Amino acid sequence: MTKLLFVPGSLRRASSSRAAARALADRLSARAECAFGDIGGLPHYNADLENDAAVRDWIAQVAAADGLVFVTPEYNYSIPGVLKNAIDWASRPAYQSVFKGKKCFVITTSGGALGGVRAQADLKYVLNGMLAEVFTCKEVVIPMANAKVEDGVFTDEAILDFASENLGAFLDSL
Ligand SMILES: Cc1cc2nc3c(=O)[nH]c(=O)nc-3n(C[C@H](O)[C@H](O)[C@H](O)COP(=O)(O)O)c2cc1C
Repeated sequence: MTKLLFVPGSLRRASSSRAAARALADRLSARAECAFGDIGGLPHYNADLENDAAVRDWIAQVAAADGLVFVTPEYNYSIPGVLKNAIDWASRPAYQSVFKGKKCFVITTSGGALGGVRAQADLKYVLNGMLAEVFTCKEVVIPMANAKVEDGVFTDEAILDFASENLGAFLDSL
């Protein structure tokens, strides 16, 4: 079965990005084996650190996946530092990392009306720089995301339908 790695860009328990990622993984469970990236325990990027177990595990998770699905909030017009840190760890050696040719799908969230469009553009730019293959489709953005979570469950079925449809096309492309 196709292996998808969901990478939420927020660590907090009540995160709307994590809730949306869980809901999408549930919807895709008949078509894909879905895992979740563990980026919260990674040290700050430091090229002097060798053989860190958390870094090794994270890179192995990326390597094992047929496709990555980022679901991330926008922080200060870009992606959260914790996500950039994880990406930086898996980006070496430059142009020959596990990201080279890796199929990626980007979803952004925000508490406001724009759904993280600026973070979406930034993340795609970063992924392109690592020679990842970013799936192109209508942008999947989730505005007012905090208001769409009840008891940890993401409730906006319309946006889940739209995201699932595009993720279906992404799966077809893998
Ligand atoms: C440090 C920080 C910076 C933020 N900057 C932005 C921003 O630039 N644009 C925006 O729309 N929302 C911004 N937000 C709001 C988040 O997008 C919103 O709280 C989102 O729901 C957080 O994602 P989560 O629910 O997955 O944790 C910011 C939140 C934080 C904590």
